[in-house]
Amino acid sequence: MNKPFDVEIERLTAPGSESIRPLLGLAQAPERGTFFLETFGCQMNDHDSEKVAGVLLARGYRQVGTPDAAGLILYNTCSIREKAAQKVFSRLGEYRAKQSEGKIIGVLGCVAQQEGEGIFERAPWVSLVCGSASYRKLPELIAQLESGNHRVTGLELDTDETFETEITRRDNPFRAYLTIIEGCDKACSYCVVPYTRGPERSRASDSILREVRQLAELGYSEVQLLGQTVNSYADPTPRKMRFAELLLAVAEVPGIRRVRFTTSHPSDFTRDIVEAMEAQPKLCEHVHLPVQSGSTKVLRAMQRTYTRDEYLGKIAMIRSARRPIAITTDIIVGFPGESEANFEQTLSLLDEVGYDSLFSFKYSPRPNTPSLKLNDVIPEEEKSRRLAVLQDKQREIQSARNKRLTGETFEVLVSGKSRRENQWSGYTSSYRLANFTSHATELLGTYVQVRVTGATPNSLVGEHVV
Ligand code: SAH
Ligand code: SF4
Ligand code: F3S
Repeated sequence: MNKPFDVEIERLTAPGSESIRPLLGLAQAPERGTFFLETFGCQMNDHDSEKVAGVLLARGYRQVGTPDAAGLILYNTCSIREKAAQKVFSRLGEYRAKQSEGKIIGVLGCVAQQEGEGIFERAPWVSLVCGSASYRKLPELIAQLESGNHRVTGLELDTDETFETEITRRDNPFRAYLTIIEGCDKACSYCVVPYTRGPERSRASDSILREVRQLAELGYSEVQLLGQTVNSYADPTPRKMRFAELLLAVAEVPGIRRVRFTTSHPSDFTRDIVEAMEAQPKLCEHVHLPVQSGSTKVLRAMQRTYTRDEYLGKIAMIRSARRPIAITTDIIVGFPGESEANFEQTLSLLDEVGYDSLFSFKYSPRPNTPSLKLNDVIPEEEKSRRLAVLQDKQREIQSARNKRLTGETFEVLVSGKSRRENQWSGYTSSYRLANFTSHATELLGTYVQVRVTGATPNSLVGEHVV
């Protein structure tokens, strides 16, 4: 997911190690050393890093902002497309010399899981390789490194626990991420996630609700429930809460004002979710529903488990809700065997659905995935052409959709302040970025009413209505 910002926003400093330690009763933890943690990839990786940072802070480590200042350098990596994985190795290359300065270098996340001990061969200066399903072992692995071990790994994939930590050092002071389901049991033929994150494991509903209550007490009013297929949630407790029930229970926690969830899989998107959204305005009016392709033939080759018509049925169900619900999606162009006619079906789907935003990617062949074996590979230039055509079309659609909102007023949770005077930004419930003017002196973290005065394809422009 990208994080679009049209104006230059001063990034806010999240509660740092210094401010959070006394809060967590950690003032007495002995000072151990310093760590630098860089994260690539999706929101789940961002959130894992928040938990990893929490684990290290609890052990007395201090987080620093540069690899130069750190004793322990950690990369939490993404393997979803080839480019993402390459970036990790080029970054590791840059820090090769650091090992000789006595620094410990570790690779976490999806590339760690995918490449395993192969990382030690490609980058012998790395001493720790650990995938997300093994993060519970991290303190133990770090202790082994501290006691002189040179190479340690955590690569078990089939762990039945979810990664819960006592402490999570959240980066975003306004919206708290919360993973409710780890791994993925779908088998999309292009995707590494089932291999890098393991089988689906849902977190107990009572544990989720306990954390939401804590978050509300810490002052968070917006929570975002995460999972690769978040709506496949299956409560492992005897309570057996359905996903829609869980959404409602989270929304009812005192202090919670907004609940988001991502990513939803179309096949598991049931009517009761829409009904919950109709009934409870705290459930944000936005659904991210990746379609991947508008062609049933391509969807079948992707093993996506739904047809174009079935997907459109889900869209109709969402559009029939009594509240307007924004819909966003992910699309892959140039999947093996995608003909020009198949691609045009994706273009026509964009017209039919009218997405509020989309993320689009050129198909990238990934190790061990079934689609590697498919013939009729689409040349790179053709993939680039299709991507450009798709993005041009979507830009027009978004521009028109956003312009239609001129004159309307939306509630915005203010999360950014521009260097330009009186300029603020934040997100609407529908997850539209709004850049707006206000003469108020302090708005960060508050909910304000913004009247839309104009629009770009990626954002709304407006003014604070007092
Ligand atoms: N679990 C989510 C998203 C997974 S990854 C889902 O099922 O929708 C995020 C997006 O990356 C996917 O939706 C897909 O559009 C894209 N993606 C995944 N594997 C890819 C690959 N091999 N090549 C190009 N894009 C890919
Ligand atoms: Fe990958 Fe498909 Fe699972 Fe999404 S649903 S993570 S695309 S295998
Ligand atoms: Fe990347 Fe792993 Fe997320 S491959 S997209 S970091 S699940």
